Amino acid sequence: MKAVYTLDDLTSRSVLDGGSSSPARLAVLGWPIAHSASPRMHQPALDANSIDARYIRLEVEPGNIPKAFARMQELGFIGCNVTVPHKLDAMANCTEVSLQAQALGAVNTVVFDGDIIRGFNTDGPGFQAAVADDFGADLKGLKVAIAGAGGGAGQAIATQCVLAGVAKLVLINRTVDKLGPLAARLKEIGTESELITLSFEDITLAEHCLDCDLIVNTSSLGLKAGDPSVLDRSCLKAGQSVYDTIYQPPVTPLLALAQETGCRTSNGLSMLIHQGALAFQHWFPGSSPLEVMRKALSQRD
Ligand code: ATR
Repeated sequence: MKAVYTLDDLTSRSVLDGGSSSPARLAVLGWPIAHSASPRMHQPALDANSIDARYIRLEVEPGNIPKAFARMQELGFIGCNVTVPHKLDAMANCTEVSLQAQALGAVNTVVFDGDIIRGFNTDGPGFQAAVADDFGADLKGLKVAIAGAGGGAGQAIATQCVLAGVAKLVLINRTVDKLGPLAARLKEIGTESELITLSFEDITLAEHCLDCDLIVNTSSLGLKAGDPSVLDRSCLKAGQSVYDTIYQPPVTPLLALAQETGCRTSNGLSMLIHQGALAFQHWFPGSSPLEVMRKALSQRD
């Protein structure tokens, strides 16, 4: 059992599974991929459901998604997860793409079904489930601000917000030019939501954030030690819910500030778990992997 596999390991079952007690039938594809926590939640869920399969990390160079999918199909894989930088390529190489994934413009979950390759996206739905679970809140009718909306996670969450029918969506990005195309795409999906695009320097930033029920950080600010909070104190008020998609560190500067202000807070671990559980249910309909996954990820090694 290797920590990371490559396409060279996918030439035959004997090469792939030599020395392992069960066959590799699920994988997470990325570049790089060694850091991925996905096996740590999917393997316990497979084991708990007595499914004779291994979930592996597969390092796939950009451009090699067609080859990876073809080899996995030949070897009888059930499906895979897809992460950075392959989510767009994965969508292009599926034979069927769910409406949700089409709206999000990216696929993170694939099901192999004979010659058919089905693509789904569980990132946005995973966020929605996390907000429901952590804050007891329904996105429908909510006022939401997203800081760092121009990145991949930000776009997925913004799209989910519009699909779910939020009342107001404030998109904030350092590079404000990135928000124009996103806002145009969101307007095509849903007309119910009021859309506002802002830079962090906009004088109305605090006013719009204070008007929101839910503030979300999807920027990478907070990952590194010494990073400042992505939003300052003037943007937060007691009673708001504040979600940071970062989960390492578990309490980012934004969440620390939010806690001091009397906001309810949660970090990206719940989104990671929910998107994983939803992916697992695409492979194994009717399964309930959430609690096993939650427990597995809370036991840090
Ligand atoms: P992804 O892989 O999600 O696309 P990314 O391109 O690194 O990741 O983008 C992450 C987000 O973090 C972006 O919104 C980025 O802002 P820009 O679009 O202006 O680059 C945001 N981000 C990164 N560093 C930041 C910083 N120091 N201040 C504010 N936003 C920042």
